[in-house]
Amino acid sequence: MTRRKFIAGNWKMNKDVGETVTLLDGILRGLRTPPEDTDLVVCPPFPSLERARTLLAGSIIRLGAQNMSQFDNGAYTGETSAKMLLSLGCEYVILGHSERRQHFFETDSLINLKVVKALESGLIPIICVGETLDEREGGRTAARIESQIEGVLRGLSEDSIHSAVIAYEPVWAIGTGKTATTDQAQEVHHQIRSLLEKQTSRETAESVRIIYGGSLNPKNAPDLFRMKDIDGGLIGGASLQAESFLKICQSTG
Ligand code: PGA
Repeated sequence: MTRRKFIAGNWKMNKDVGETVTLLDGILRGLRTPPEDTDLVVCPPFPSLERARTLLAGSIIRLGAQNMSQFDNGAYTGETSAKMLLSLGCEYVILGHSERRQHFFETDSLINLKVVKALESGLIPIICVGETLDEREGGRTAARIESQIEGVLRGLSEDSIHSAVIAYEPVWAIGTGKTATTDQAQEVHHQIRSLLEKQTSRETAESVRIIYGGSLNPKNAPDLFRMKDIDGGLIGGASLQAESFLKICQSTG
């Protein structure tokens, strides 16, 4: 089974509208030969989505958001619905990022509601899981990953899981300059694929893209992307500059 590679830039709370124009302009100009068999996605902040959609029209780069409400509409001040994201041209949404868990107290059950809503609405969720440094050092990585995967995918049909993307992002590697080794990352990716197989089937588990995130850069990306169960990356810091983002995109081959 060959899976298409998947690279997404998570801009987090960076780049206003003007800066979005500059960055996307640089990315589009640098993307003369798009990488083969690779899906490319950028996830700018909400206020930049409209402009990003216009700039990306006709390119191979798809648009994603960084969060979404579990509700359809109504009195939820400050929230953004799936329908609103679809109306802005989003096809993807990052859900359950560790920064949402840490700073905004998102739990696996809340993330599960959001994942269900995204899939029902026709958005593809990029679902994040990952252990903290404490959990890794205490030998609890596998248990933590298992409970997160079970929690966020609870009740989902095989078809739904088939269309999702899973991101393994060890919390201790995010924005720290510390990357998981290829073996550490492969081990967890393999574990996630086995957990998916338990919940679905071998065929579906083999088809789901599982991407790595955590201090990816043009130097470490090629080795990580060569591992059997690593299908691409979720890139934070290095996605904020056209040159480094493009280099990572080109290293999927
Ligand atoms: P980083 O962020 O590449 O800056 O470590 C990755 C992420 O949080 O998605």
